[in-house]
Amino acid sequence: MPMPNIIAFDGPAASGKSTIAYQLSKSMGYLFFDTGVMYRAVTWKVLNDGVPVEDEAGVTRVAEEVLIEVQPASQDDNRTNDVLVNGQDVTWEIRKAEVEEHVSAVSAYPGVRKAMTAQQRRIGLAGKVIMVGRDIGTVVLPEADLKIFLEASVEERARRRYQELVDRGEKADLSEILEAMRRRDKVDSSRKVAPLRAAEDAVRINSDGLTIPEVLQKISSLIQP
Ligand code: DC
Repeated sequence: MPMPNIIAFDGPAASGKSTIAYQLSKSMGYLFFDTGVMYRAVTWKVLNDGVPVEDEAGVTRVAEEVLIEVQPASQDDNRTNDVLVNGQDVTWEIRKAEVEEHVSAVSAYPGVRKAMTAQQRRIGLAGKVIMVGRDIGTVVLPEADLKIFLEASVEERARRRYQELVDRGEKADLSEILEAMRRRDKVDSSRKVAPLRAAEDAVRINSDGLTIPEVLQKISSLIQP
């Protein structure tokens, strides 16, 4: 296919989509935009402000009012970007277990999704972009020129998430992570608005047992056959 201007990159938690999409964006000179950080940033703000996660109206108000900025990485600590919430750097805060635990519930609220989707669409339509998430090919940018849906078994994804935490020097329990991942998959795929699913015209890739370069090779062959 000719060089795709907009690439939608979806898949479940810890499928490797951010790592792969980031590397692809570097080799193509495209903007990498991970939409998961926006839902995480809203969740962090909700928890930080003491808004109960069950308070849909309160959570939606936070999503509508919060200023989330995603900027080029200012520090060499493995981050792909800086994530700022009302000017405060929360890049690592939004990766913590407390945020992980509540992010699926927050991202299931229609008003939260509406606020985030509008910002994501504006950024995506500017082009030369690889946008990563759950609903990019189906809802945010259905006009994307190339849609990838990256899958991996829940066991493999839990192992990867466990390794990520250990590598960052954080405490981690593999069986707890596996359970949490199963719960999150269920909420993400069964929510009413924009559930996790592959677009009909998405290319599905299963990354079980594949290395990062092998997955990148598969995607490159789609772009330059
Ligand atoms: O990709 P991630 O683990 O950083 O995503 C965090 C959460 O945000 C995940 O539970 C699902 C949600 N999410 C979403 O609903 N839609 C997106 N486009 C991206 C993430």
